Amino acid sequence: MPFGRAQSKATPPASTLVSAETSAGAIPLSKETNTNPPQSEEDRSEVFKAKAKVFNALVDAVDISRIATTDRSEAAEEIGAIAAEIIDEKRIPLTVKDQEWLIDSIIDDVLGYGPLEQLLRRDDISDIMVNGADDVFIEVGGKTQKTSIRFQSNEQLLNICQRIVSQVGRRVDESSPICDARLMDGSRVNVIAPPLAVDGPTLTIRKFKKDKLTLEDLVGFGSISEQGAEILRIIGRVRCNTLISGGTGSGKTTLLNCLTRFIDTDERIVTCEDAAELQLQQPHVVRLETRPANIEGKGEITMRELVKNCLRMRPERIIVGEVRGAEAFDLLQAMNTGHDGSMGTLHANSPREALARLESMISVGGVSLPPKTIREMMVSSIDVIVQASRLRDGRRVITHVTEVLGMEGDVITTQDIFKFEITGESEDGKVIGTHRANGGGRPGFWDRAVYYNEQGRLTEALDGSDPRSMRRDLEA
Ligand SMILES: Nc1ncnc2c1ncn2[C@@H]1O[C@H](COP(=O)(O)OP(=O)(O)OP(=O)(O)O)[C@@H](O)[C@H]1O
Ligand SMILES: [Mg+2]
Repeated sequence: MPFGRAQSKATPPASTLVSAETSAGAIPLSKETNTNPPQSEEDRSEVFKAKAKVFNALVDAVDISRIATTDRSEAAEEIGAIAAEIIDEKRIPLTVKDQEWLIDSIIDDVLGYGPLEQLLRRDDISDIMVNGADDVFIEVGGKTQKTSIRFQSNEQLLNICQRIVSQVGRRVDESSPICDARLMDGSRVNVIAPPLAVDGPTLTIRKFKKDKLTLEDLVGFGSISEQGAEILRIIGRVRCNTLISGGTGSGKTTLLNCLTRFIDTDERIVTCEDAAELQLQQPHVVRLETRPANIEGKGEITMRELVKNCLRMRPERIIVGEVRGAEAFDLLQAMNTGHDGSMGTLHANSPREALARLESMISVGGVSLPPKTIREMMVSSIDVIVQASRLRDGRRVITHVTEVLGMEGDVITTQDIFKFEITGESEDGKVIGTHRANGGGRPGFWDRAVYYNEQGRLTEALDGSDPRSMRRDLEA
């Protein structure tokens, strides 16, 4: 046994010791890999008492500090075997199901993030939201739902948060109650602790999906029509400078990831993100990540610094995960200075609002140019805005593909190449709508399409979705 029952009493790591005191009591959601928890309140408390007993005996018997260096599945097997031995030795009366549950949840507590583990294992969950020990919500298939998962106490929850953020060298406590982190699998985590979070530690996790959605998947979901997807492919390929706009969780990063698939393999791409979520397929990619300040408030590297540095790295395209501040100006400059095909996402509810947000980010960011000059710069930099939205039925849809055309007086003029028009609602509350091209002739990036020899595909995609030649009703 690599870390079998130690002869002398071993000292487990501090985090494990803390959770040993508080770990019993997690009520799991039913899951494929675990048995259901005991059903009645009485059974439940009996099994939780048993769990605490086994857990304490296990901590006493096993050199847990060595577990961290052992392969997870091997470690899980060992812990399971020792826990079963303890149950046997102490003659703890348990049904087979309860024993399975108890062992699984002890493994989760020792090796992972306790009750969170069973949610982290599920691939169908996109977000996990923990609002204090008793309220755990998940998002599945675009819908938010409450789970039966509970942490034993806010203290246990905070310990788990602590374990998560310690991996990126941070701490959460009263003096630094806000923290961003990333799990080993790439999931993005935000923790906000009391006193700022009034009802207990609050944890938000955007699960990392290994299999990213592709444009074909989005067509399959009805998020965009086949012709719309083709137009997006062409936009990615012919190096249009593109902004992806949308609300929180509307699918911006997913869409950005899809668009980058059509970049040629010989281009040098530099990506700047707060947490590396993008998965580019090209061979020549440099991935950069911002860094928050450390515990002493030092060492922060902002998105603006990254984008500025990018320009000295000879990129052909720059991809900014999320534009939310002064870096907007640097991205526009990059777009304007030979880095065609650069892309970024931003939070806005329509293409018009995206332009307004960009303008205000630049002016608030300390660039003292007259508004009209900023707008002219935006017009000469940005070719296309793609709008992602989450509809009220939970479905994510690409609602606009809009071109930035020019200026009329002080106002930026735009044209929708493609639009999602809502036509009604089905009996079960699903939104019904149609993706339509505006039918208004050639888009402004036509010359680019010709340059890349994509005019044939572009004409076909535009004609195919012209409302005069075809109308396709999309129903989820
Ligand atoms: N068109 C779609 N249909 C179904 N699910 C989608 C679609 N687009 C994205 N998703 C899923 O929705 C979740 C959120 O997507 P994504 O991370 O792209 O959103 P976002 O707008 O970047 O979010 P944030 O504002 O938090 O950065 C992910 O789990 C993703 O797989
Ligand atoms: Mg995102």
